[in-house]
Formats: sequence, C-alpha cells, structure tokens
Amino acid sequence: KGKRAFIAGVADDNGYGWAIARSLAAAGAEILVGTWVPALNIFESSLRRGKFDGSRILPDGSMMEIAKVYPLDAVFDNPAEVPEDIKTNKRYAGSTKWTVQEVADSVKEDFGSIDILVHSLANGPEVTKPLLETSRNGYLAAISASSYSYVSLLKHFLPILNPGGSSISLTYIASERIIPGYGGGMSSAKAALESDTRVLAFEAGRKRKIRVNTISAGPLRSRAAKAIGFIDMMIDYSSANAPLQKELSAEEVGNAAAFLASPLASAITGTVLYVDNGLNAMGVGV
Ligand code: NAI
Repeated sequence: KGKRAFIAGVADDNGYGWAIARSLAAAGAEILVGTWVPALNIFESSLRRGKFDGSRILPDGSMMEIAKVYPLDAVFDNPAEVPEDIKTNKRYAGSTKWTVQEVADSVKEDFGSIDILVHSLANGPEVTKPLLETSRNGYLAAISASSYSYVSLLKHFLPILNPGGSSISLTYIASERIIPGYGGGMSSAKAALESDTRVLAFEAGRKRKIRVNTISAGPLRSRAAKAIGFIDMMIDYSSANAPLQKELSAEEVGNAAAFLASPLASAITGTVLYVDNGLNAMGVGV
C-alpha cells in the first residue's frame, strides 16, 4: 500500500521541505504538509494560482498533489499554551487548530494514520548575532522552534505513526564544528536536535518500531537561509572545498530523505546522515 507522509515546514518551493515532499511523492507517497501560520495565506494562494506548478512536475511527468495543507505553529503544543497576543494577532486569527496537538488530532481525524513524519523547520530570532551577544530569550526561542518542536511533533504524532514508520529532521554541521555567522543559539539548537535524534530513536523504536534519523544538509539558498545572510558565501565555500565540487540541489536531500523513509533503510536509526557533497569530512579547505 502507498505510504502517507506529513511534512512540517513547507511554505514555498525553495526549501528542503518542498524537495522532500517531491521525492516522497515521486516514490508514491501521499503528501500532507504543515505550514507556519503566518505564511499560510501566501502559500495556499500561490499554490492555488499555480505559482508552484513548474516545481510540482515529477520525474514521470505527473504533478505532485498535496492532499491537505495544515496550519501549524510548532512552538505551541496545545491551545492552553497560546498567549493572548498570539491568539488575537491578525496573522493567526484567520486559522484554527494549529498547535501541535491539534494538528496531530486533525490528521488522525482526516486520514487515520501516517507512515513518515518530516520536520523541516527552524527559527532563531537572533540568528545573525554571535552567541556571546545572544539573549536568553533569543537562545530559548531558537531551541523551542528548532529543537523542542521536533520532540513535540514526534510525541504527538507517535500514536498515529504506523509501526515500521520513519521520522526525519534536518540539521546543520554548525552543531559540531565552528561556523561563524550561524548564531543566536542555532548551533546549540542543532546540537540538541542531533542528540535528541539518538534518544528519540531509542524511545520511539522501543515504543512503536519507528526509526528516527536526521540529515545534516549542506547549504541551500532557501528563504530561511537567506535570512541568515551568509548563504552565498557558504555555497561558494562548499563548491571550492568539498570533495564533490558541485552546488548541492535540494533534490539530493529530498532523495536521501526518501531513502531513509523507505524499507531500504530498515536497519538505520539514530543516525546523522551527511548530505553535503562530503564537506563534513574535510579537515582543511584546499
Ligand atoms: P525554509 O525557509 O524552506 O524552511 C523553514 C520553514 O520553517 C519555513 O517554511 C518556515 O515557515 C517554517 N517555520 C519557522 N518557524 C516555524 C514554527 N514555529 N512552526 C512551524 N513552521 C515554522 O528553509 P530550509 O533552509 O529549507 O529549512 C528547513 C530545515 O533545513 C531547517 O531545519 C534548517 O535548519 C535545515 N537546514 C537548512 C540548510 C540550508 O542551507 N538552507 C542547511 C542545513 C539544514
């Protein structure tokens, strides 16, 4: 039977989330996405108006269909946690049921279960600040949006993840090596995400036979990456120094995610898989 995937963190066709959706769709999966509430209107209207039609075309010529788009804000676990200023915010008022618990409940109601859970989201309000200049609030916000959001998603979707299923997140090598410019506690958040990948692999594996892996991806000119400000330099650095001297395409990360989600990866869990043209293996730039 065909598999069903929920991909959190798709709001345009430039990021890793979209590419993962495409690769999973090309492999025959049914696609559900979770879109950040403030980005929902523009994403849905762009979809409707056909702005993404070109990038919906799959290798076999068919169009990727998104069975349903769910509004999601992964920094809130349930309605009781949503503060008044968010509830009454114009960008949130038009949507309902967008906390993690409510989205999991809605997916259960609409589709019953899923096989693949993808977390392709991150946010660090102070990402452009060095760690030494990062505030406590900025640091905690980065961890909340980029690390705990994954713990929460997996926790709430675990009861509807079919045994044998797979869960994937996206990380970055700044967790383990010094990448100046990746600030605001985002390097810390990715370190937490990678450590949690191991612990969650144990817990979700024992509890429901779910595999948990993370992809350490090379640089991509996504919306989020452009906000950091150094993405072009990182892409040039990789092309100059990686074992494979080509620009990384989002599709290459999408295909690795499809592999990890497939039975071909049935013994792989708790791992950090580098999809970065091999840059992580270099000791010095040459
Ligand atoms: P992107 O901008 O396509 O994706 C980030 C998404 O997160 C956006 O759709 C945004 O709306 C969403 N988001 C932010 N806060 C949210 C929240 N509270 N609730 C729900 N959604 C929220 O950018 P990209 O780069 O594709 O990011 C996807 C993942 O890939 C992230 O985890 C990122 O750290 C990771 N990554 C990106 C690299 C790059 O060079 N672009 C390199 C390595 C990892």
